[in-house]
Amino acid sequence: MLPSMEVQSPRRLNAATIPSEPRFASHLAEFIARFGDSSSAAGTPRLFFAPGRVNLMGAHLDYNGGPVMPMAIDRGTFLVLRPRRDGLVTIATSMDDEQTTFNLSVLLATKAPKAEERWWDYSVGVLLGLARCAELDPGRGFDLYYGGDLPVGAGLSSSASVSLVTAVALNAHFGLDMSVDQAIDAALFAEREFVGVMCGIMDPFAVGFASPGHLLLLNCKDRSWQHVGLDGEKYMVGIIDTLVRRKLAKGEFNLRVEQCAAAYKALAPFAPDAENLSEVPLAVFEAHERDLEPAVAKRARHVLEETSRTFEARDALLLGDVAAFGCAMFDAHDSLRDHFEVSIDELNTIVEFAKSHDAVLGGRLTGAGFGGCVAVILKAGQQDAFAAAMCTAYEQAHGQTPKIAFYKGSPGLGEVVI
Ligand code: GLA
Repeated sequence: MLPSMEVQSPRRLNAATIPSEPRFASHLAEFIARFGDSSSAAGTPRLFFAPGRVNLMGAHLDYNGGPVMPMAIDRGTFLVLRPRRDGLVTIATSMDDEQTTFNLSVLLATKAPKAEERWWDYSVGVLLGLARCAELDPGRGFDLYYGGDLPVGAGLSSSASVSLVTAVALNAHFGLDMSVDQAIDAALFAEREFVGVMCGIMDPFAVGFASPGHLLLLNCKDRSWQHVGLDGEKYMVGIIDTLVRRKLAKGEFNLRVEQCAAAYKALAPFAPDAENLSEVPLAVFEAHERDLEPAVAKRARHVLEETSRTFEARDALLLGDVAAFGCAMFDAHDSLRDHFEVSIDELNTIVEFAKSHDAVLGGRLTGAGFGGCVAVILKAGQQDAFAAAMCTAYEQAHGQTPKIAFYKGSPGLGEVVI
């Protein structure tokens, strides 16, 4: 059985406020420029922020009941909400000109609203998720205007960031006094039941419980969590973006979820104490490995080894042994490449180069895989030399320049003071 962490008392969604920064102020100015000081507005605009995240350990364990160690970053999603008098909802983004408008009372009265396969499905899904556990006044329409500085589809959890910022804004607009856990459930409803991606719980937890200078250690079996510090004076997190975006990712992701479920179904009769795949003893798996389909066996091996690796990495970090934590990240990447088969050449090039660089302690693909980014932990102060060398190595291998960014801890989820 996996150890449980302390279960925290429920945090309120409206507890946190975030100091203003130029990037937030300019998003608000953009909103006014695009939507004007409309006479249909029933109140002043409010501004909200939710971070993105990198996952440093525990890849593809959340939907297998295992431990994960994500860290929220300072980049994220900005959202302006302004109440309207006419009962309509408008959803728009600074990223393109497409927007949607609908009547709130009609949506709330619709029996089984369907997703439209557009980016605003996440916003609508969260609205419907909140409506499942709270009464929303159908007359209180609003404008939502999204923006931000998080690359979309890069494995930095833009979808959880959008969902959580929506939940925190709607909580304030409807005066709901929800807990962070309820917002997380609304985000999960949006992604799983409305949009149809069978994601685990890691991303909304990483965003919802972000704390500067900390990783979140979350046990996905029982949702218990604790913060684990990473010394920001000595180490920093770098993200190298391959700029490869895989359209196939949703189907491939759901296939991995199904293969893990198949592995658990086959192994559970031999492991009566295991409530999920990550709790099946390795010896039980190895005794029955040959009876599993080869792809299913590979997925199970990754899950079981990654579970032990993540707990060992947590112990190392608690003792301040960042080098051991980094080695675990490299091992995790190898397993994602060979057993879980979610890596691509571009990601592998980056990790192999990172292994050879003195400033780097560890690195692996972050997010679901099939493209996106590698996260590395490196010694603070050496980032410029690392970034230059990394670009040269990547350009030689793939003829393109990757995007590299270094992140600070996140200001967390909340309302920006404007
Ligand atoms: C995606 C999912 C997460 C998690 C990761 C892999 O980001 O949304 O729930 O499964 O992949 O660790």
